[in-house]
Amino acid sequence: MKDLLRLRTSLTEEIETLLNEQIKVEAYSSSLYLAMSSWCDRNGYDNSAGYLEKQSGEEREHMLKLFRYVNDLGGSAVSPEVINIPQEFDSFKGVFEMALQQEIQVTSNFNRIADRCQKANDYVTFQFLQWFLKEQVEEEYVARRILELFEVIGEEGTGRWEIDKHIPKVSFGISGE
Ligand SMILES: [Fe+2]
Ligand SMILES: [Fe+2]
Repeated sequence: MKDLLRLRTSLTEEIETLLNEQIKVEAYSSSLYLAMSSWCDRNGYDNSAGYLEKQSGEEREHMLKLFRYVNDLGGSAVSPEVINIPQEFDSFKGVFEMALQQEIQVTSNFNRIADRCQKANDYVTFQFLQWFLKEQVEEEYVARRILELFEVIGEEGTGRWEIDKHIPKVSFGISGE
């Protein structure tokens, strides 16, 4: 019966499982960014709160992109259960350190899935993943640039207020790609 069900999809069990795990990670990112947004809002960093809320929405879109792909290929996309979202953060800078850490982890996940796709000769999924790999370059770039603001502007005096003002303006590349 299980073999028969597999005929409905060209996804191997391994790739389907990896994609469902990544659906969960994207959902986690979305909830994490939303928690960060709330923390920033409560602590007076309004611009960062808005930026992080927008990021949370983008992570949900990533989650749905993967979700739809799994079902489109005849697999079973699993609605993710997300737990253990931190609601408190050590500091304003700590929020963005965690954001960069999360993005680096996600890049490593996608590299691993792409590697498994090649080994399984799943070039359909491998090609689908290219969008995410490209997106991660942008996500990591923005996260790093934001952290640099803490060094460049400095946190003393009105520094944090100034950093908060700059965060939504950080974007990838001057070509606007
Ligand atoms: Fe993402
Ligand atoms: Fe991301």
